Amino acid sequence: MSSAHTVWHEPSVNKEKRAKKQGHRSCIVWFTGLSGSGKSTIAHAVEEKLFEQNIRTYVMDGDNIRHGLNKDLSFTPEDRQENIRRIGELTKLFVDAGIIIFTAFISPYKKDRDAVRQLFPKGEFIEVHVKCSLEECERRDPKGWYRKAKAGEIKNYTGVSSPYEVPEKPDLVLETDKYSVNECVDRVITYLKEADIVRFE
Ligand code: ADX
Repeated sequence: MSSAHTVWHEPSVNKEKRAKKQGHRSCIVWFTGLSGSGKSTIAHAVEEKLFEQNIRTYVMDGDNIRHGLNKDLSFTPEDRQENIRRIGELTKLFVDAGIIIFTAFISPYKKDRDAVRQLFPKGEFIEVHVKCSLEECERRDPKGWYRKAKAGEIKNYTGVSSPYEVPEKPDLVLETDKYSVNECVDRVITYLKEADIVRFE
């Protein structure tokens, strides 16, 4: 629990040097939204476009991380907080390694998202609200979880029996029940270009 007997080692190959050599900066693009809102779909689609441009990226999503690193965590508020805290620390290492990381976690609590934002210098944490009405998410229900949650078979389900706190000042809002995946992808890429994180035609 303590860092009293450890000393921070400052690397000689740092984030700035990596950015210069690889021709793009790194950051975290934090997608937050209800289950079924389209977080993973958009994250992977953006990644594909950047990958074509030889940009170093990685996508992390809730279902996958909960199979490994965070398989000990449930969906209580405390465990969701710990889920997001660990992801925050992990993504910080990726950003330090020069990678643009996209995360697709519901991350329903504002204070947990804000705690991750605090880990990064200004401009490196980009909060994207993947906004979609609950009705539409329930209609899509790609994994069938909403149906089960409504039947009481899954407890603490976000949007059904657990809250989702809408971001107050996200850096970007993508309304996936109004715009196509391609339109949402283009908006993310435009944002990254305008923030001078990536440069390409
Ligand atoms: S978070 O709230 O802690 O950020 P996370 O994104 O890791 O959630 O995991 C969400 C995924 O877990 C959903 O896409 C869904 O497939 C699955 N899941 C299982 N149980 C629940 C639940 N009670 N609430 C929300 N998602 C759940």
